[in-house]
Amino acid sequence: MAPTPTLLGFVALNLFFIVLAVVPRQVNSTRHASFGQKIVVGDPSINGICATSVIVNGYKCQELQVTTKDGYILSLQRIPGGRGEQGDHSTGIKKQPVIIQHGVLVDGMTWLLNPPEQNLPLILADNGFDVWIANTRGTRFSRQHTSLDPSKQAFWNWSWDELVSYDLPAVFDYVYGQTGQKVHYVGHSLGTLIALASFSEGHLVTQLKSSALLSPIAYLSHMNTALGVVLAKTFAGEITTLFGLAEFNPKGIRVSTLIKSLCTYPGIDCYDLLTALTGKNCCLNASTVDLFLRNEPQSTSTKNMVHLAQTVRTGVLAKFNYGRPDYNIMHYGDMQPPIYNISNIPKNLPLYISYGGRDALSDVRDVGNLLDSLKFHDGDKLTVQFIKDYAHADYIMGVNAKDIVYNAVLAFFKRQP
Ligand SMILES: *[C@@H]1O[C@H](CO)[C@@H](O)[C@H](O)[C@H]1NC(C)=O
Ligand SMILES: *[C@@H]1O[C@H](CO)[C@@H](O)[C@H](O)[C@H]1NC(C)=O
Ligand SMILES: *[C@@H]1O[C@H](CO)[C@@H](O)[C@H](O)[C@H]1NC(C)=O
Ligand SMILES: *[C@@H]1O[C@H](CO)[C@@H](O)[C@H](O)[C@H]1NC(C)=O
Repeated sequence: MAPTPTLLGFVALNLFFIVLAVVPRQVNSTRHASFGQKIVVGDPSINGICATSVIVNGYKCQELQVTTKDGYILSLQRIPGGRGEQGDHSTGIKKQPVIIQHGVLVDGMTWLLNPPEQNLPLILADNGFDVWIANTRGTRFSRQHTSLDPSKQAFWNWSWDELVSYDLPAVFDYVYGQTGQKVHYVGHSLGTLIALASFSEGHLVTQLKSSALLSPIAYLSHMNTALGVVLAKTFAGEITTLFGLAEFNPKGIRVSTLIKSLCTYPGIDCYDLLTALTGKNCCLNASTVDLFLRNEPQSTSTKNMVHLAQTVRTGVLAKFNYGRPDYNIMHYGDMQPPIYNISNIPKNLPLYISYGGRDALSDVRDVGNLLDSLKFHDGDKLTVQFIKDYAHADYIMGVNAKDIVYNAVLAFFKRQP
């Protein structure tokens, strides 16, 4: 999954393995698609995220599209009000917009898998926020482009640098343009890394009110999942030759073959993949994990995985390394890729950081490094929460995430002037 071990992506990969062993139970009638896979009726890949997970629960929801400056057409869901409400135009009261950004190898659906009273987007909507769910390029609802096709290599010619340079700004510009208001941001996993990288370059901050970073990832050198470490090593080299500049599809045969082969490494226990990859999640609901398996993992680009692997290996947050000084000079005018310097994040930007004691991807020591980079941040602008029992997936699927994390994030947002 995630190259770096990182991210929910790895979790997803893990889960994917579990899927190999446990056929998810089918809900409702199914029909056979031409490629032989069963499609579940009510599957978001047919009906979309709003219809599948939001409108059914009594909330308004709009499916929208945003085009990035490099031509990717991203899907975006807007939940303008709480359950049963008509939306923000009916009341005349301007609600505060919140952008919610998922991690790698999953899509925006991942936030909506728990029951409505437990999932972050609907809790925010019920508490008076205007909620916007982003979907990164390459995931199932963000696979269109003004000129490129996902079957072509050129479509997959990007890493998380492009999420920083194009995806995030496109979504921020759109939401800011539509609402005329500064936004709050919530990121999980890779959704924190791209935000931190962007803020460090001074981007987005003029459109931003505050930011909540859950399972923050910036430095990854202590990532302690065995499978993640092997994956990161693998992505260093052979992966690129094996996959080239291509789609990294966790559901595809090449990726699953790769994972199976990694599972034969000594010391790697793929029996309990979710734990092996993300750490010991304390508080997942079996039904939600089941839904997760039906919805994720999602594709990313191989180049993104390679970039994440570089982040793991080098221990610095830098742009994509082309691996050859002349290529780096061509792209950056320097033999080394430029660094994203976290210490350059504006010191008065309100930040809420929450990290878990059992998170194998966002290791406590790496978060320590991140906090060290923020040591000159204005004291009253930085709120840090440590949850001893939490691992990576608890932040999006934990049955008690509302009580432990989301309510605190809400309170933090409401405190911002
Ligand atoms: C199956 O779909 C029907 C209508 O499409 C719905 O009423 C029913 O609740 C669904 N059953 C399950 C188990 O989701
Ligand atoms: C787990 O999820 C199911 C299905 O959404 C829900 O009915 C149940 O209440 C959840 N359990 C807990 C402990 O939240
Ligand atoms: C990928 O993008 C780089 C610029 O970042 C360009 O030099 C290269 O030709 C592109 N490759 C393909 C196959 O599109
Ligand atoms: C990052 O920026 C800070 C000051 O903002 C500077 O002291 C530090 O040396 C920089 N780090 C790197 C790796 O360039």
